Amino acid sequence: MTQIRTEMRIVDPQNPDPTALQQAGSVIREGGLVAFPTETVYGLGANALNADAVARIFKAKGRPSFNPLIVHVPDIDSARELVAVWTEEAEKLAQHFWAGPLTLVLPKSHAIPDIVTGGGNTVAVRIPAHPIAQALLRSAGVPIAAPSANRSNQLSPTLAKHVVKGLNGRIDMILDGGATSGGVESTVLSLVESPPRLLRPGLITPAEISEVIGVIQVGASSHIETERVPLLSPGMLTRHYAPQTPLLLAANDGAETVKALLEQGLKVVWLAFQSQTTCTDLQVVVMPQDAEGYASRLFAELHRWDSMGVDRIVVSALPQGEKWLAVADRLQRASQGEAH
Ligand code: TXA
Ligand code: MG
Repeated sequence: MTQIRTEMRIVDPQNPDPTALQQAGSVIREGGLVAFPTETVYGLGANALNADAVARIFKAKGRPSFNPLIVHVPDIDSARELVAVWTEEAEKLAQHFWAGPLTLVLPKSHAIPDIVTGGGNTVAVRIPAHPIAQALLRSAGVPIAAPSANRSNQLSPTLAKHVVKGLNGRIDMILDGGATSGGVESTVLSLVESPPRLLRPGLITPAEISEVIGVIQVGASSHIETERVPLLSPGMLTRHYAPQTPLLLAANDGAETVKALLEQGLKVVWLAFQSQTTCTDLQVVVMPQDAEGYASRLFAELHRWDSMGVDRIVVSALPQGEKWLAVADRLQRASQGEAH
């Protein structure tokens, strides 16, 4: 791919610089690619109504064309324009959780080019809560299709420097708004099935969704096979979100796994819940005990240790409970298969 100059702009989320946002908005309108922070992870945005611009996202990420994108909008009225049917459930969920980390899958309207939805007849939409994402949407004046701003199959970015690592020279602009707070990608819920189905766990839990719209289907999504066509949520292939360094998710605190690896002479980092005795070949990170705190640190730790030349990342087993569903899901995927 021909290298282009990627412009980096630091933007204060509390007080976004109007000039930077105007510039980013016109890059989007002119068919360019802008990476920007959301409350979950950084997204790689393009004008969702411009098929050529959206094609550039797939190229920059090396993303397979069957994997559809989430369309970001600034308000509920704009969301309605993108879908063929706006259901009562959609209205309730939108009122309750938007702006926020919930993505709704609904039948698509003709306004959405096929490339956005991987050729499918549904579209995923959400209103991001981050002030820079909001400001960019308003400045661009068009819906913004945005997957996470990483190369396909790699870890999602929670800092601008993670975006630089994967996409420098492949995109037009990066808005650096510091660390994203959520840390894992939005909850994806399909409203085209009855009852609605959770396609990807996120920080909004099934129980919270059920409180608003009643029973939903959970499960199956983490076991979707690569061969299954059409894919229910194609981004949920088992090998996904993986660091380069092999990651072992322990069945208990991981002490025995760590010991065995050290005996083999390997360099190990251990994401644990309690401090541990370290040695030359062992680094220990004491992770937050609450699911939200853990989620917001997880990808940053994986990015960090990936670039430090350790041989293995060992992760202590997580507590049980729905709140841990998103983190458990991402760690299971990160621990699948060979390093790549
Ligand atoms: O938090 C997030 O959702 C971030 C920020 C940038 O908004 N975006 C994100 O996008 O994680 P991406 O492309 O990395 O993940 C989108 C997920 C994928 O698993 C994709 O397959 C699924 O949503 N998806 C998108 N459109 C869909 C559709 N029409 N039907 C089913 N699944 C869909
Ligand atoms: Mg992604």
